[in-house]
Amino acid sequence: MTEMIKITLDENEVPRNFYNVLPDLPERLAPPLNPKTREPVTPADLEAIFPKELIRQEMSAERSIPVPQEVRDALIRFGRPTPLIRAKRLEEHLRTPAKIYFKHEGLNPCGSHKPNTAIAQAYYNAKEGIEHLATETGAGQWGTALAYASMLFGLKCTVFMVRNSFEQKPGRKIMIESYGATIHASPSPVTAYGRKIRNEMPDTPGSLGIAISEAIEVAASDKKTNYALGSVLNHVLLHQTVIGQELKLQFAKAEIEPDFLIGCIGGGSNFGGMVFPFVRDKIGGRTRARFIGVEPESCPTVTKGEYRYDSGDTAGMTPLLKMHTLGSGHIPPAIHAGGLRYHGMAPAVSLLMEHGISEAESYGQDEVLEAARLFARTEGIIAAPESSHAIASAIRHANECRKSNEARTIVFNLSGHGLLDLSFYAGG
Ligand SMILES: Cc1ncc(COP(=O)(O)O)c(C=O)c1O
Repeated sequence: MTEMIKITLDENEVPRNFYNVLPDLPERLAPPLNPKTREPVTPADLEAIFPKELIRQEMSAERSIPVPQEVRDALIRFGRPTPLIRAKRLEEHLRTPAKIYFKHEGLNPCGSHKPNTAIAQAYYNAKEGIEHLATETGAGQWGTALAYASMLFGLKCTVFMVRNSFEQKPGRKIMIESYGATIHASPSPVTAYGRKIRNEMPDTPGSLGIAISEAIEVAASDKKTNYALGSVLNHVLLHQTVIGQELKLQFAKAEIEPDFLIGCIGGGSNFGGMVFPFVRDKIGGRTRARFIGVEPESCPTVTKGEYRYDSGDTAGMTPLLKMHTLGSGHIPPAIHAGGLRYHGMAPAVSLLMEHGISEAESYGQDEVLEAARLFARTEGIIAAPESSHAIASAIRHANECRKSNEARTIVFNLSGHGLLDLSFYAGG
């Protein structure tokens, strides 16, 4: 068979089910705990901020959960299925015998993988009578996606954007407002928690943990307002499995046997969405692929964090999750990859790391920027700073293949474009 440069699928190959990895994990996931009682949370504990269907999905033991028709239609309308592309020019530049492929999640109107779950979350909330969603955003990709999905399903949307990214990426504010949502730099003056942090730390760059606390405060104080999270939770990663399920079909179509599946890890959603559908194969010895999650050296949640129960936010409002964490009070340095500045990691991804089914690597911002620039100069794509961590890892492994003369197949997830992150490319 001639080698394919671009492996595409058609509309009817967009997954009809979300794949739930929980029953296939090597061990039962430790239950989330109520932060006040330290007892396992009950569905009722979560109903103040989440719709019933998402709570059901969060705790589901079913392997397969149908994608509602309206959600599937919206996924197709905004750009699914996404292509798998051979980075041939990058390979040639590196003079590597490795083959490098990337799954391009940055081609939709929002620019990242985040709409895969934003659309589903907005749909279930609207269906249960919710009128308004509140959320946090790091670099702005998630806030953009939720603003877009809220627009699709007729919901109001309020976004708390981490202050340092808000200042670095002014385009995101314009985009989020263009979809009809409201945006505040976090910590903000509009919540009690935001005001408290502003008093205590007037110059703080902010953090995802603080922004989450603000969004939950807004959601918990109004019956028609819910909270939506862009990563970490089981239901979020569940929705992202459309990525890995499509990849499986693409691998079959082009007869690709991956040696590496690589994704950046902030809270773990694009990486989980990519690798979860391969976990059963990995445990059963049917794939040789290494699963590699890539994080910044300056926010080394998995490579340096502890594996223990911790809060998902800074104010301690979320359930306690058993995960890798740097501590919920941790405020990472103001790097450009704002989406990777999170103190915790999705419990299901953390568990795979603990069992050695997945591995983690960390990269410094200079190596990541160099990788991003090389990708732009060879493949012509301005990648998001977050996704550029995955590119840096792909390049490092491709260079190792050159040294050992091994023709490995490296696949990474390009989780988003960086057209609104240009100050990263300017090195500023
Ligand atoms: C483009 C992009 N990639 C990756 C991430 C990290 O999130 P996650 O680990 O949930 O995929 C973000 C988060 O904002 C992002 O915007």
